[in-house]
Amino acid sequence: MSKTPTGDFSLINIGQLVTNNSQLGEGQLGIINNAAISIVDGKVAWVGQTSNVDKSLQIVDANGDCVIPGFVDSHSHIIFAGDRSNEFAARMAGIPYSAGGIKVTTAATRAASEQELKINAQRLIAEMHESGTTTIEIKSGYGLDVETEKRSVKVASELTVEVTFLGAHVVATEFADNPDAYVDLVAGPMLDACLPYSKWIDVFCDKGAFTTSQTKKILEAGIANGLKPRVHLNQLEQGDAVGMAIELDCASADHLTYLTDGDINALAKSNTVAGLVPACEFSTRSPFYPRARDLLDAGSVVSLSPDCNPGSSYSSNMPFCIALAVREMHMTVDESLYAATMGGAKALRRNDVGHLTVGANADLVLLNAPTYVHFAYRPGVPLIKTTWKDGNVVFAKGASA
Ligand code: NIG
Ligand code: FE
Repeated sequence: MSKTPTGDFSLINIGQLVTNNSQLGEGQLGIINNAAISIVDGKVAWVGQTSNVDKSLQIVDANGDCVIPGFVDSHSHIIFAGDRSNEFAARMAGIPYSAGGIKVTTAATRAASEQELKINAQRLIAEMHESGTTTIEIKSGYGLDVETEKRSVKVASELTVEVTFLGAHVVATEFADNPDAYVDLVAGPMLDACLPYSKWIDVFCDKGAFTTSQTKKILEAGIANGLKPRVHLNQLEQGDAVGMAIELDCASADHLTYLTDGDINALAKSNTVAGLVPACEFSTRSPFYPRARDLLDAGSVVSLSPDCNPGSSYSSNMPFCIALAVREMHMTVDESLYAATMGGAKALRRNDVGHLTVGANADLVLLNAPTYVHFAYRPGVPLIKTTWKDGNVVFAKGASA
């Protein structure tokens, strides 16, 4: 490639362009071969064959490699301080994962300054850009008191528009004897403090975290104040909250390691995306992965995310999730790529990202590979050459972006 420009340009000689628009190309991924794409003012201005490209713009040559829409990561917990590698090592030696580890990160996060939290999150965002992710949802949830939750969503709001208030991650230690008082704090003063910085509200509804009725109460308080709901469900046990999540119109229900046939049918008929996070099953050595095949066959929309967090899944890498989705969840490579891009966009209810239609955000990724199949075929290999967000280079291999 000649240059990695910032600004208006045409990327030509794309061997395989994934648009995710079936009107533009072949199949659900809308694939165009020998393609080109023009970027003007941070948006996709034109898509077609290289032979028809506008040559007045700066030209970048893809040399026959593949271009995809930037990955959309709809689930991350990257506002935290501290390290839990000891917990991971112990887990690999046989101690099972539990929600309680969150409290270890809470102590470190409370002690961290705004600047420290921001620097740590920026380091993880740089990793995400390096692995092709361009849209990132960021949750709070390691503060568990009004001041630290507010600090967390404030830092998140400086890094993304997709900010999620997750004060209900676990019950704070100070409220161990009175979890309902913590629910009232989250649904009252903590919500009020976090509201100005947040778009979404989330609750960890599971064993060792919050019950279905506590979850409903907190999500409804957020909705009443203009936040949009999403939820963590059925990571650690088979719960009963899928119906509630659908009834509240949660944009996504995430984890879903445990699901009944009834849950799958209900999700398939709903607007709630099934947010699968297979790096979490991998890193917690879960005995099984979510029933992605059954969800897809029933007609559910599936998203993929690394669920980057210091406890259950300390990976920021979407290509790794694609490899796991294919190998462990029996999703096809096409389904996995779609879930990592359009699935994430749907989980965030965004129509300007996850695809490369004219007018969409110019979030795109040039691979060091002729086809996106290499994400699953060459697991663990860094395959990203250049990542653009809004037409700007945010990662270029061999350069400091
Ligand atoms: O998505 N499930 C809840 N929250 C995180 C785990 C957080 C932690 O262990 O620190 C998750 O897996
Ligand atoms: Fe999570």
